[in-house]
Amino acid sequence: MSSQSRGVSYSREMFSTRTNWNLNTTRLAESLARLRASKRKLIDLSASNPTEVGFRYDGASILKAFISPSALKYTPDPSGLRSARLAVGEYYLALNEHVSADDLILTTSTSEAYSYVFRLLCNPGDELLIPSPSYPLFDFLAELQDVKLVRYPLFYDLGWHVDFHALRQAITPRTRGMILVHPNNPTGHYTKPSERETLNTLCAEHELAIIADEVFLDFNLAGNGARSFVSNRDALTFTMSGISKISGLPQMKLSWLAVSGPEEQKREALGRLEVIADTFLSMNAAVQIAAPALLAQRHGFQEQLIGRVRSNLAELDSQLVEKKECSRLAVEAGWYAVLRVPVTRSDEDLAVELLEEHGVYVHPGHFYDFSGDGHLVVSLITPEREFSEGLEQVLGMF
Ligand SMILES: Cc1ncc(COP(=O)(O)O)c(C=O)c1O
Repeated sequence: MSSQSRGVSYSREMFSTRTNWNLNTTRLAESLARLRASKRKLIDLSASNPTEVGFRYDGASILKAFISPSALKYTPDPSGLRSARLAVGEYYLALNEHVSADDLILTTSTSEAYSYVFRLLCNPGDELLIPSPSYPLFDFLAELQDVKLVRYPLFYDLGWHVDFHALRQAITPRTRGMILVHPNNPTGHYTKPSERETLNTLCAEHELAIIADEVFLDFNLAGNGARSFVSNRDALTFTMSGISKISGLPQMKLSWLAVSGPEEQKREALGRLEVIADTFLSMNAAVQIAAPALLAQRHGFQEQLIGRVRSNLAELDSQLVEKKECSRLAVEAGWYAVLRVPVTRSDEDLAVELLEEHGVYVHPGHFYDFSGDGHLVVSLITPEREFSEGLEQVLGMF
């Protein structure tokens, strides 16, 4: 089979099947591109880039942190510079968790941390369990590592819960681990302590690892003091986080992987991870040297972000009082809210109509694997005035 691209013909067999993606743009993406090109006003209720929604950063301190003569020396360490790992340890200490620098591996992104762990745990075709609904990047990450994802459903009943019956049924001899997003994106719920206990029992029974994505851990709105998985010792556990969300600095590319669990398994995992990391040595010196200062930025950033999220949630609730047909699901943490809306058309059609007729961009629920229509996801970090205006348009559709 051959294709034609810019006048050069080639055979699809030149490329791996794992990259046989459908690269056609969706109707929604096309509408968005058209609207952007037309320069019409766009209200983006999907905003996720913290550097573009009007938060104040201490630019002088951030830039100063990069000016260091040590950045002129190459002192590679596969786990990441010890000074940077110690700074991550300090971050956990502030959360009352003890994480040794020896149990940390620095990565350029959470995605890179996932790929290391997938490589560590899985042979081609092995399976990992992922929650549904959740963050949409997993499919690509898994395909690139030849890993098969098997979904376990979460269900909503005055809050989100793991469907353990379905989870147990999803475990096969090829299952190597389960992914938790704690708190989950976009549902904004934490794994409950009782769920953690059951997960640990299941993992011990089936020799599975836990992969806990905690990028939103600090954005707790419920004040329920949800604990990190870094202290989980009952199963081999890989906890991931980074400053993209914690300090609102996704451009700096500083994330990490904390390994915990039964001592022998933990040592073996760390030894193997170091070889994976050593193969790439992808961290750059400057950002590692700046790590303590970049992590220190989190206080001012998180205060602003949580203030905005609370204010937008209050606005959402006040608009919903007037719109009984629509509701929102409970949010414990994070940057997003899930709206329940009447199913008058597919979520995709609704999102396209909102964009083309009202210039408002929202994510349809299927982006996050919601089963069935009637779910829209809105970003709570959108600047307040835009959020209120955009939401009026969304609710005005019903
Ligand atoms: C749950 C979750 N994990 C990971 C990431 C990406 O993090 P990073 O920028 O560190 O790769 C995101 C980004 O939105 C996310 O929502």
